Amino acid sequence: MTGLFITLEGPEGAGKSTNRDYLAERLRAEGIEVVLTREPGGTPLAERIREVLLAPGEEQMNADTELLLVFAARAQHLSEVIRPALARGAVVICDRFTDSTYAYQGGGRGLSLERIATLETFVQGDLRPDLTLVFDLPVEVGLARASARGRLDRFELEGQAFFDAVRTAFLKRAKAEPARYYLLDAAQPLAQVQQAIDALLPNLLERARG
Ligand SMILES: Nc1ncnc2c1ncn2[C@@H]1O[C@H](COP(=O)(O)OP(=O)(O)OP(=O)(O)O)[C@@H](O)[C@H]1O
Ligand SMILES: [Mg+2]
Repeated sequence: MTGLFITLEGPEGAGKSTNRDYLAERLRAEGIEVVLTREPGGTPLAERIREVLLAPGEEQMNADTELLLVFAARAQHLSEVIRPALARGAVVICDRFTDSTYAYQGGGRGLSLERIATLETFVQGDLRPDLTLVFDLPVEVGLARASARGRLDRFELEGQAFFDAVRTAFLKRAKAEPARYYLLDAAQPLAQVQQAIDALLPNLLERARG
């Protein structure tokens, strides 16, 4: 039995976490086992790597260091949480995954997409999400939502050009593989975003029940 691997992607403040919980509730109400998790993080060790990645610090983090830390955390998360859950047939809903690596370390930091792809295969083998929801919205709207929550992390401190590149990278990936990605207009009121998610449910339930 193999479960269903769903990832939620998009910039800060796009509504990933809010809608992750919403989607989980809808699936659980239908009796589906759902494992909710996030990246970077998802296990105690990977959450420690997350702290290193997000904490602003005196020493500038080298972009390759950042990339390798992201994949180090992912290797741990895959072996401890994601692969076991999928193996027992659960639906895994993960708040950010490798599309964020392409968007932030690739688009934002300008690292080579080929190198990211090499690490992706190294760490994941042929495992890819079955479905990726991309929450798209204008950069300013997302940053305003995120900063309303308080102190900014090391990524949120980046400027407009960084986030423009992040957004462009997400959109490019979504357009290149429409069968896997589902693009949502996250600037809409939450109720409308959730209606768009509801529209996916019949298909998801069918796939989750195998
Ligand atoms: N469609 C929406 N309209 C208005 N506000 C929203 C909408 N979706 C989410 N919000 C609000 O925006 C804030 C950020 O949402 P959320 O935490 O879900 O975003 P996120 O994508 O998980 O952000 P991050 O990447 O920073 O974790 C929250 O206060 C949430 O209630
Ligand atoms: Mg979140």
